[in-house]
Amino acid sequence: MHPEIDRVLITAEQLAARTAELGRQITADYAGKPLTVVSILRGSIIFAADLIRHLDLDLELDFIGAASYGDDTESSGHVDIRKHLDGKVHDRHVLLVDDILDTGYTLQAVCELVRISRPASLKTAVAFDKPARRKVDLAADYAGFTIDPVFIVGYGMDLAQKYRNLPYIGVPKKEVLDRIFGNRP
Ligand code: IMP
Ligand code: MG
Repeated sequence: MHPEIDRVLITAEQLAARTAELGRQITADYAGKPLTVVSILRGSIIFAADLIRHLDLDLELDFIGAASYGDDTESSGHVDIRKHLDGKVHDRHVLLVDDILDTGYTLQAVCELVRISRPASLKTAVAFDKPARRKVDLAADYAGFTIDPVFIVGYGMDLAQKYRNLPYIGVPKKEVLDRIFGNRP
């Protein structure tokens, strides 16, 4: 285990099994429908890469870059779009993929942006869901793991841009969290 990680919350094997399960479910739900999978940069790329390899569908892959500003631990609701879609999604079925649904500000803003293009349908898939932290009325259509409100890293997710490459979901050590976030509750 990485020396700055306190404990493994979800193993690589658990991630792989659950992603495969979601892939089977999404494949069944979209049978016969061409799909555009939109991965929200940067945190969702590992989940999106794993998920699409379990989708037995005619699909296109696109990306939206989104960053939300706020204090370090919680987004503010001001979501900055840093990269827009390359392809057209008008009249296409769109599945937005993000790493984690926390306050919900990010996914809500990206949904609003995509809806402007009038897709045939719009659904959301997240690897992790922290419902206790929600600030907006939003639920994911597909969620891999529902977790307690702890800060997690790995499988694409970062703390100050580190740990995205960890193959498991870990909880950083308290001294690491304190160093980045300070001692605020
Ligand atoms: P929201 O806008 O509060 O729902 O935040 C979503 C974004 O915040 C995610 O796409 C992540 O980039 C980031 N985020 C939220 N919770 C965590 C976490 O526990 N670890 C790492 N990043 C997180
Ligand atoms: Mg993100």
